Amino acid sequence: MRIKNICCIGAGYVGGPTMAVFADKCPHIQIEVVDLNEEKISNWNNKDLTKLPVYEPGLGEIIQRCRGRNLHFSNSIKEKIEAADMVFISVNTPTKTKGIGAGKASDLKWVEACARQVAKYAKGHTVVVEKSTLPVRTAETIMSILHSSKSGHNDNMQTTFNVLSNPEFLAEGTAIKDLENPDRVLIGGENHDAIKSLTEIYQNWVPKNKILTTNIWSSELAKLTANAFLAQRISSINSISALCETTGADIREVSRAIGSDSRIGSKFLDSGPGFGGSCFKKDILNLVYLAEYFGLPEIANFWEAVVHLNKWHQHRISKLIVKKLLGTVIGKKICILGFAFKANTNDTRESASINICKDLIEEGAILFINDPKVRPSQISIDLDKEENTNLKKIKDQNFLNNYEGEWCFEKNILSAAEGADAIVLLTEWENYTKIDWIDIGRRMRKPSWVFDSRSVISKEKVLEANLNLWKIGDGTLK
Ligand code: NAD
Ligand code: UGA
Repeated sequence: MRIKNICCIGAGYVGGPTMAVFADKCPHIQIEVVDLNEEKISNWNNKDLTKLPVYEPGLGEIIQRCRGRNLHFSNSIKEKIEAADMVFISVNTPTKTKGIGAGKASDLKWVEACARQVAKYAKGHTVVVEKSTLPVRTAETIMSILHSSKSGHNDNMQTTFNVLSNPEFLAEGTAIKDLENPDRVLIGGENHDAIKSLTEIYQNWVPKNKILTTNIWSSELAKLTANAFLAQRISSINSISALCETTGADIREVSRAIGSDSRIGSKFLDSGPGFGGSCFKKDILNLVYLAEYFGLPEIANFWEAVVHLNKWHQHRISKLIVKKLLGTVIGKKICILGFAFKANTNDTRESASINICKDLIEEGAILFINDPKVRPSQISIDLDKEENTNLKKIKDQNFLNNYEGEWCFEKNILSAAEGADAIVLLTEWENYTKIDWIDIGRRMRKPSWVFDSRSVISKEKVLEANLNLWKIGDGTLK
């Protein structure tokens, strides 16, 4: 069973970059990425690589090499499924907003729709691969949809299926590096030939000892567990950062000290404004739902605490900003550096910036928001509030006071800092680490504050510029 034609359903943050790397490493396989969203597909086909729907370092170069050769993007879902001998399901699996399990369980309607499309259009033998992150035992649902509609279509060709679980572990911002050099590839399944056909694809660039095979349920559950463990480390270190601030300890020193223990390890111990991204919260809540469903409330409570702590931590930061700014931010100009949920991505899903900005807007602050990759239109959707572009034209701080609770996007950091009472750094973009604080300090209104929620700014340089500084987890600052 050698795979020659792949169809990937879903051209998002996972489907796009993953299939780009597959195409690059497997020139002998034709890869078709399909999506319902026409605008997204047209952007994937755009000659101008800055218009690609996903920003990832290194992605543009791969797209340039492979697009039109063995990597294609289209909305022709039916034809591409028909022609494929392997179909990846890489669609979104957000948290349900209504019905049973609302607020916790994953909404599988897009996955189910894909299974129905595959059942309807596939021809001959087709391996269906779960790439989306799914609750344990979803493969059962997919199999039942595929098998229940096996007969009576497809030009009398006998259609048969195997289902595999192949969760994706890439992190945004480093997706290409993670895909090209993964810590491991996980393949869960029951059918030896199907597992072999997917293993052979990965073996084009991944050493065999890094390709793990398990039963299908272990594979599904391992993905949720990996995200839960990673997120748990962040909530753990963030909880200690609050304690550092009140006791005179420094979270970076604590992280270094504990991370040197090889049993703990040094990664994922950076205290920040709280984890964001489309998956950590959703996947933990999914795990919580599963534990509740299977009658294990203690396990559900244990994991839910990770999400509670994260939310508490984000509001803790908003509250301390207000407190340091003399108890009120009404009519005060605040410059926000960073809206993406981490550096090197244009993704804002569940970004800590959303909650922190919403809190400050609610308190009456006037926000000038900067981000190198996020568009103002996306910020407007996330804040559920239109941008007021007039703010940028107002030069006199006294007039600006009248616009409490409004925001605008400002490309130029110096202009964003002009007359501001505070600068709040929320995403660790590299250009923010190179800011000239003396220059910024001269432009701000006194007393001026810098809030560094990522601990990436030079403390000495900010203090030299006579600015007040709060740095996450730094108990040595007053
Ligand atoms: P996304 O929202 O960026 O992309 C999903 C795409 O699927 C959308 O473009 C949507 O239009 C398309 N789609 C939905 N239903 C469809 C259908 N029936 N037919 C055709 N297209 C359809 O989502 P994403 O971030 O790529 O995540 C996809 C899955 O991968 C999720 O389960 C997520 O948990 C998992 N995951 C995401 C990441 C990440 O870094 N974003 C990493 C690992 C795993
Ligand atoms: C995460 C996992 O790292 C991936 O393995 C997984 O595939 C993916 O979720 C997924 O399933 O979607 P991602 O969310 O893209 O990847 O990015 P991370 O690097 O994990 O960062 C998540 C959040 O945690 C970000 O807001 C980041 O700033 C924060 N973080 C990360 C910290 O606050 N401290 C750290 O030490 C690390």
